[in-house]
Amino acid sequence: MELKSACRMLLFPVQMFYYIVRASLFSLLPSRRKDLSKEVVLITGGGRGIGRHLAKEFAKQGARKVILWGRTEKCLKETAEEISLSGTECHYFICDVANREEVYKQAKVVREKVGDVTILVNNAAVVHGKSLMDSDDDSLLKSQHINTMGQFWTTKAFLPRMLELQHGHVVCINSILSQSPIPGAIDYCTSKASSLAFMESLTLGLLDCPGVGCTTVLPFHTNTEMFQGMRLFVYNCCHLGISTYNMFPHLFPPLKPEVVAQRTVDAVRADKAFLYLPWTMHALVILKSFMPQVALEEIHKFSGTYTCMNTFKGRT
Ligand SMILES: NC(=O)c1ccc[n+]([C@@H]2O[C@H](COP(=O)([O-])OP(=O)(O)OC[C@H]3O[C@@H](n4cnc5c(N)ncnc54)[C@H](OP(=O)(O)O)[C@@H]3O)[C@@H](O)[C@H]2O)c1
Repeated sequence: MELKSACRMLLFPVQMFYYIVRASLFSLLPSRRKDLSKEVVLITGGGRGIGRHLAKEFAKQGARKVILWGRTEKCLKETAEEISLSGTECHYFICDVANREEVYKQAKVVREKVGDVTILVNNAAVVHGKSLMDSDDDSLLKSQHINTMGQFWTTKAFLPRMLELQHGHVVCINSILSQSPIPGAIDYCTSKASSLAFMESLTLGLLDCPGVGCTTVLPFHTNTEMFQGMRLFVYNCCHLGISTYNMFPHLFPPLKPEVVAQRTVDAVRADKAFLYLPWTMHALVILKSFMPQVALEEIHKFSGTYTCMNTFKGRT
């Protein structure tokens, strides 16, 4: 028994090395993709922004049915009509994910009217774009209820049936701000960090559940109304007359929502657990783990993340 344990310990680094090489090779080669033709996909916040593009992308890549949840009927209706016209069955329901009772009630309605949800995409979120002291208490609570707790309720509503069927996928549209927070969006960053912990815990907890997986997407700034007005790379060295925005206006342009959607659906089909968009965001996480605070502060000043929310307008 002891010899066996010793062998396992010796083999452990080799095994890790093998997994890293295998994952690197697989990321270069075209891998097998999950067929979506039997999938019923529910997207929270599916009426607009990234959610709307996700709905269109799932439909384009062959999902059987798409269901949209949100609070604004006009956007939900328009998106549902567009998807139905393209030939995919699409339904929408008004549901505020922060309201636990409403989530459970609407989940029941979805099961009865449309069927079992096999892919749940937790995408709905809000940002207020204020510092802690400038935010009123209700707004601070609201972002935690929508961005974090909403996922608890939707996942509790749909995961049990996925486990029974031994078939399902839970997706979270998180944010790189969960790992590298900025000032001026303290409630948002906190909610995204706890949502990341939620997904990490869920992903590990589902390791023993055949057929059920998770994907967490961590995108950089994306071109939707959510962070309207935010400007990165505007560090002005006044005394030198240099502005990093003028020097590198295209260094990190915002992502296109359709690209985030397409990469997300690809990741679900490839059963990828975590997706950083763009992949260079891995560097940010690695740098943060060992660089001294003073160096990190300089990076924040240089990249403008330090002051980027000063021009924030958000969804009007
Ligand atoms: N934009 C970015 O720079 C960026 C970057 C990284 C990650 N993300 C993440 O990507 C996801 C989508 O963001 P986005 O840029 O598409 O923002 P968006 O355009 O503001 O869309 C947010 C969506 O969430 C829905 N929503 C908000 N509160 C809701 C609630 N209580 N119940 C149900 N639905 C609700 C909204 O619909 P209603 O208002 O009609 O309810 C809307 O459809 C979010 O999780 C966000 O954190 C965005």
